[in-house]
Amino acid sequence: MRIAVGSDHAGFELKAALIEELRARGAEVTDCGTAGAASCDYPEFGAAVAGMVADGRAERGVLVCGTGQGMCMTANRFPAVRAALVYDEMSARITRQHNNANVICLGARVLAPAEARRLLGLWLETPFDGDRHLRRVRKIDSVGPCGGKGE
Ligand code: RB5
Repeated sequence: MRIAVGSDHAGFELKAALIEELRARGAEVTDCGTAGAASCDYPEFGAAVAGMVADGRAERGVLVCGTGQGMCMTANRFPAVRAALVYDEMSARITRQHNNANVICLGARVLAPAEARRLLGLWLETPFDGDRHLRRVRKIDSVGPCGGKGE
């Protein structure tokens, strides 16, 4: 699976651990930065990853910042991106089963590294349930600007 990964300074260390986890699972990883612990702005890296998912260069995205919140807000501005803030086992499972999330957002100041790795693995392994959830996910994609019909 082609997976794009990005973080800001707060998520930089955890990003390295998650890339290790992804490569151990056989993923083809693109590291969109940041490249060090120097302070930077999360939307730049969130947009780089979400852009890759939106245009199909990556099948999934992994984003890390202090809380995961800012990355999630950024990524969800992109068409066809369904970014989910994952903070426990249930959110990891349900965002895949019900929402077919294609981007996971994790908080490096919220989760211990081992827990973040575990939740990422669970998220990757959990399939989409389809059926009525497919109808709902399609409705997300059909919502246009200001809640209007997108298509
Ligand atoms: C950076 O201090 C912090 O604001 C950022 O990592 C993130 O938590 C934003 O949502």
